[in-house]
Amino acid sequence: MLVDSYGRRIRKLRVSLTDQCNLRCHYCMPINAEFMEVNRYLTPKEYGEIIAELVTLGLEEVRLTGGEPLLRQALPEILTTISRCSLKKISLTTNGILLHRYLELLQQHHILDLNISLDSLKPEIFTQITHGRNLSQIQTNITLAKQQGFRIKINTVMMRGVNDLELFNFVEYAKSENIEIRFLELMRIGQACQQQQDQFIPAQELIDRLKTRYTLQAQAMPLDSTAFNFITECGARIGFIASESQPFCGHCSRWRLSADGILRACLLKTDGLEIRELNHEQRLAAYEQLLGMKPYLRPMEVTHLMHQIGG
Ligand code: GTP
Ligand code: 5AD
Ligand code: SF4
Repeated sequence: MLVDSYGRRIRKLRVSLTDQCNLRCHYCMPINAEFMEVNRYLTPKEYGEIIAELVTLGLEEVRLTGGEPLLRQALPEILTTISRCSLKKISLTTNGILLHRYLELLQQHHILDLNISLDSLKPEIFTQITHGRNLSQIQTNITLAKQQGFRIKINTVMMRGVNDLELFNFVEYAKSENIEIRFLELMRIGQACQQQQDQFIPAQELIDRLKTRYTLQAQAMPLDSTAFNFITECGARIGFIASESQPFCGHCSRWRLSADGILRACLLKTDGLEIRELNHEQRLAAYEQLLGMKPYLRPMEVTHLMHQIGG
């Protein structure tokens, strides 16, 4: 079992399939982002080997991320190798643009839990944040996926003066689609560091605003959840990921694997261990070392970009 000195057991792995993306959310990556060489990507076989090994050490769940994971050419082969690993659950975080093309493939591999990023319901603001023009495609795909039985959560990064006036629209939208919505605090990481001061909104402020219109009843959540959730009297499910104002490192159960094979103990730690060239014995030693690299308090100086190591 992978348990660190604080008693945190590693049972979830966030697996990045590529650092590339078909959007450019301004808090995540610069317009002229530089990407890793495609020939450095882990192969489907390597993903399968690493994940299967971690399963023997107690890994239960994998979440596929990017960049945008649906851009990875070898996605079908990667899903084939990962779904043979006896995981309890595989889920996917996506911007939703290409989802309609992959719903069948995801269903075949029992990947039914989708977290979809959506920061605005207004075309101009969506474009301002993402530099993309795909809002209606994403909304169509959300409806389609929901109709096909996928469990969907919407992730919305709330930013003052950018999209925060849409707070109630988002709740009404999620309620009408019967989907959970989670409001994310803008994290101080990479690109977002400069914008943090004026755009940051603490989760509590959003909760106070919501309470002027809704009655919020707290929901029980797993200890290692990134979110804390409420349900309104009219059945809307609303979560908050307050990584800045209420960090959840103390119960974190996650490691992350980047598309170029670096295993990291934390989203906010730039350093990690290159594991692809290692044999089994060396990997076991690396995992032991990584357990000691997981911070207990949120690291302050975070210089890498979110898309580089998987959001
Ligand atoms: P589920 O709870 O399984 O639905 O997934 P999730 O909330 O862990 O995953 P998702 O990809 O939707 O991530 C939502 C937000 O939580 C993103 O902004 C992530 O960067 C952030 N997040 C995920 N894991 C961590 C973590 O270990 N530390 C911090 N600080 N933030 C995280
Ligand atoms: N702060 C908060 N959330 C972020 N994401 C990317 N960068 C940041 C940041 N600086 C989110 C995306 C997506 C999820 C994987 O991470 O919007 O929903
Ligand atoms: Fe792409 Fe997600 Fe980053 Fe936006 S936040 S640019 S959708 S990886």
